[in-house]
Amino acid sequence: MGKAFVIAVDGPGGAGKGELTKRLAKEFGFDLLDSGAIYRVLAYAARKAGLAMFDEDSLVQEANVLNLSFNVEEDGVHVMLGQEDVTRAIRTEENGVNASKVAAHPLVRQALLARQRDFAQEPGLVADGRDMGTVVFPQAQVKIFLDASPEVRAKRRQLQLEAAGKEADFEQILKEITERDERDRNRPVAPLKPAEDALLLDSTDLSIEEVFNKACEYIRSKMK
Ligand code: DC
Repeated sequence: MGKAFVIAVDGPGGAGKGELTKRLAKEFGFDLLDSGAIYRVLAYAARKAGLAMFDEDSLVQEANVLNLSFNVEEDGVHVMLGQEDVTRAIRTEENGVNASKVAAHPLVRQALLARQRDFAQEPGLVADGRDMGTVVFPQAQVKIFLDASPEVRAKRRQLQLEAAGKEADFEQILKEITERDERDRNRPVAPLKPAEDALLLDSTDLSIEEVFNKACEYIRSKMK
């Protein structure tokens, strides 16, 4: 980690981590690691290679050769698998479920660890995920656990999908979110849980502005 200042933001899907971490990276001039995208790209590549999501050995081999890069362009960050721009393709619900299955394998997580730690460069990094503060960056100077009720997270997801012109059934989304949470929280390795020294933020009744302001205040207090 060297002298990099690491802000680890963990929490379940739909709690608002993506928006918060994007804003924090901009505010502090730090790089951003979207660790979920790494699991999503692996799931996508595995699917393409015809692998089963329970085949841990093959998934590890795939993880070891995964040619993944994040390209910063004017319209945002593009996620690349080799020459293929997979930015949108990895965001489907189906691929999210597969990512969660892939991420439940301990050896797969191990294989992706060094790749994630390499992102911690000076001046600093904002890391978005499930185990940033507990496993990947246990020495992080700031740890935040962002949560929200499943209903609010499902509602936000529904609005996102509708804004993108896609069909979205609230009950179905709520069911998927709850199942994915269960798997992420109950896996034996690196389960989704707050680090002991994490600031707990519940965004259920807070706007993104309010969450951002609370996070900034906390981070500044840790920078002194
Ligand atoms: O944040 P996301 O929805 O893009 O993440 C997709 C899946 O990847 C999520 O269901 C669990 C897994 N994941 C993980 O296990 N550890 C991380 N640090 C980030 C994501």
